[in-house]
Amino acid sequence: MPLLTNSAPPQQCRWHDYSTTAELEQAAAQAILRAAQQAISQRGVFHIVLAGGTSPRRVYELLRKADTDWAAWHVYFGDERCLPPDHAERNSRMAAQAWLDHVAIPPDQIHPIPAEMGAQNAASAYARIAEEIDFFDLVLLGLGEDGHTASLFPGHELGNTPNAPAAIAVFDSPKPPPQRVSLSACRLGAAHQVIFLVTGAAKQQAITNWRNGISIPATTITPAGGVDVYLEATLLRKR
Ligand code: 6PG
Repeated sequence: MPLLTNSAPPQQCRWHDYSTTAELEQAAAQAILRAAQQAISQRGVFHIVLAGGTSPRRVYELLRKADTDWAAWHVYFGDERCLPPDHAERNSRMAAQAWLDHVAIPPDQIHPIPAEMGAQNAASAYARIAEEIDFFDLVLLGLGEDGHTASLFPGHELGNTPNAPAAIAVFDSPKPPPQRVSLSACRLGAAHQVIFLVTGAAKQQAITNWRNGISIPATTITPAGGVDVYLEATLLRKR
C-alpha cells in the first residue's frame, strides 16, 4: 500500500467559505472566468482541467452565458470513469450537457479522457496528451467523503512522486465504477491555480481531517501557488 509520502513541499491552502451553495457556485464561476481572462491576456490561451462528480455541475451551467473568448479555451479532464462515452455517469458527458455543448469552444480543443479504451490504454494515451502542457492554467477538483480527489483514492497509487506518470489507471476504485483514469497528483499540481469545489455535509470528515493536518489524497496536490478550497461555511465549523 503506497504511503502518502510526498516529496513535494507542504500544501498551502486558502479556505473560501460561503453561506450558501449558490454563492459558492457563483464565486467559483467568477474565479474560473478571472483565471481565463488572465491567461488569455498573458498567453492567448487558457488550459483548464475539469472536475468530475456532481459538485461542479451548476458551476459549469453558470459558464454557459460567460463573455469570454471561447476560441482560446482548451479543456482537459482530471479523471474519467471507464464507461462508454455517452454513458450518463461519464464526467465528460456531464460537462458537455451542463456547459460544453452550449459554447463555441472548438471541438478539437476539448480533450476527453478516452476511458472507453480501458483504464491502462486510456491512461497511457491521456498521459501523452497531458504532457503536451507544461502547466495548466487552472485545475478544478472535487473532494470525496474519504478525502479522494479526481480518482486518487486513499491506499491507492496517487502519482505524487517526481517520476510519476501524468495519468494513472485505476482498477479497484472504491467509488464505482471500479475502472477509472486519473491525472496523477503531480500532474494535477503542475498548475498556476488549483480550485477545489466542496459541497455537502458528507464531506465534513474529509474537510476536518484536511484542516487538522491529516494526509488525504487531496493534500498531495501541491502547486507552487497553493490551492484554493471553495466550501460551504458549515463545513468549517467542526475541528
Ligand atoms: C468522480 C470525481 C470525484 C468527485 C468526488 C466528489 O469521477 O467521481 O472525479 O473525484 O469529484 O467524488 O464527487 P461529488 O462532487 O459528486 O460529491
